[in-house]
Amino acid sequence: MATVIAHRGYAGVAPENTVAAAIRAAEDGETTMLEIDVQPAACGTPVVLHDERLEGRRNGRPLTDASGLVWETSLETLQLARVLGTDETVPTLTEFLEAIPETVGVNVELKNPGTTDLRFAESLSDSVRAERREVWTPFVERVVDVCAGFDGELLFSSFCEGALAAIRDIAPEYAAAPLVFDDLEAGLEIARRYDCEAIHPPRNVIVGTGLATTSYAGFSDAAPDIDILETAHAEGRTVNVWTVTNWHQFDQLAAAGVDGIIADYPGLGVPSSVR
Ligand code: G3P
Ligand code: MG
Repeated sequence: MATVIAHRGYAGVAPENTVAAAIRAAEDGETTMLEIDVQPAACGTPVVLHDERLEGRRNGRPLTDASGLVWETSLETLQLARVLGTDETVPTLTEFLEAIPETVGVNVELKNPGTTDLRFAESLSDSVRAERREVWTPFVERVVDVCAGFDGELLFSSFCEGALAAIRDIAPEYAAAPLVFDDLEAGLEIARRYDCEAIHPPRNVIVGTGLATTSYAGFSDAAPDIDILETAHAEGRTVNVWTVTNWHQFDQLAAAGVDGIIADYPGLGVPSSVR
């Protein structure tokens, strides 16, 4: 049975990446882990927010009532911001981890802290790799410092190679996973390079689910030429898939044999026989 990883807290039922979303997920009884997006405030303090801009849009609404780039904004300003028209604040990573029981794990997605290290679908020279790891190191050190106070399971993921390189240097005891777009071979190579315990592909690239030809924003409609599930499992890596919003997708992916499903709504993991 696939485990449920609540996406952005539980973005489908509470303002995303807020303490309210964390509490909702922790209470539902099926959530194994919470997935959250973490980036630095101007002072380097890790905060939990998805978009690089505070005024990013969500279904036509502003994500917060503040504006500007998160990594250029003071912590004081960030803490005054309210999320999606509610009273919920942008939590620091410390506040977020303190709000959840340690029976629930956390998948910390390391978002780009204002660098040019974007996706890893390209081959890089060793010197560029080293530079990217250096750029990420101060932020990853701050995140690891905060996480040291959390006793639950932790899994670090990122679309950025420098983030995974830094985690491996600073805290090799933590599990890590590349977040993959449609370049599956590049993702697998990163998983091998950094000896990652897991790999996080988008749901539509899992072959045999009927989702492989389902359009997902930014992806081609073609079925992938690599069976990433089979390949990753053969290499001993777990496969956690993002992002699922309905039972149909959940059931297909669970039947295909994925290990974890990053989902927006609670209840998706309830077996169809008892729904
Ligand atoms: O970690 C899985 C998923 O969260 C990646 O996409 O944009 O929701 O952070 P995004
Ligand atoms: Mg995320």
